[in-house]
Amino acid sequence: MKLFIDTANVEDIEALAPLGIIDGVTTNPSLLAKVGGDPRAVLKRICDVVQGPVSAEVVATDSDGMVREGRELAAIDPHIVVKVPFGKAGVQACRTLTTEGTRVNVTLIFSAAQALLAAKVGASFVSPFVGRLDDIGTSGMDLIAQIVEIFENFDFSTEVLVASIRGPIHVIESARIGADVCTCPPKAIEALFTHPLTGIGLEKFLADWDKAQQPVG
Ligand code: E4P
Repeated sequence: MKLFIDTANVEDIEALAPLGIIDGVTTNPSLLAKVGGDPRAVLKRICDVVQGPVSAEVVATDSDGMVREGRELAAIDPHIVVKVPFGKAGVQACRTLTTEGTRVNVTLIFSAAQALLAAKVGASFVSPFVGRLDDIGTSGMDLIAQIVEIFENFDFSTEVLVASIRGPIHVIESARIGADVCTCPPKAIEALFTHPLTGIGLEKFLADWDKAQQPVG
């Protein structure tokens, strides 16, 4: 399963990229607004750091506007994947951009029916938001299982990109179900490294080693 980082913070990306575990990046208008500056320049810097898909979202709400913005975003760097929000305008824009050879990530997916429609128009990725579904008392992971099953039934090449990840359980469950990608905020990636027994175990190994170096008697 691929691991993307869900942030527009270049420093956070630079800190994790050398570990070799980051396969791509997702951004959205909220994340870009949070870091400030010229969003195009930020996206370009991100593309230079991570040589993988970098999702950049349109803010137009009509299909023509989405296509126009999508073309501009795609021109920033070959790694850019244009993100469009699900809806009739988004589906139509996805179809046009895909036909032109631009990769599209259809975002704000909250049902398997929406994922199916996005796959039918050639989306490279669909982004179901598991955390936001959990927040309203439904199961985000059930949705991932449904989408993975449907895409397998029909051999869709669209990748299931699990978004709105809150912690390691979402990542582990996504991997067990067979989702293609998880996009995690930096905090959630940090949490993947952490287990109290690893820390305790290492402390004990080092303490025992120190003890063994002391002269006998
Ligand atoms: C990424 O593509 C999504 O925009 C992001 O994961 C949404 O996460 P949130 O629900 O924590 O805002």
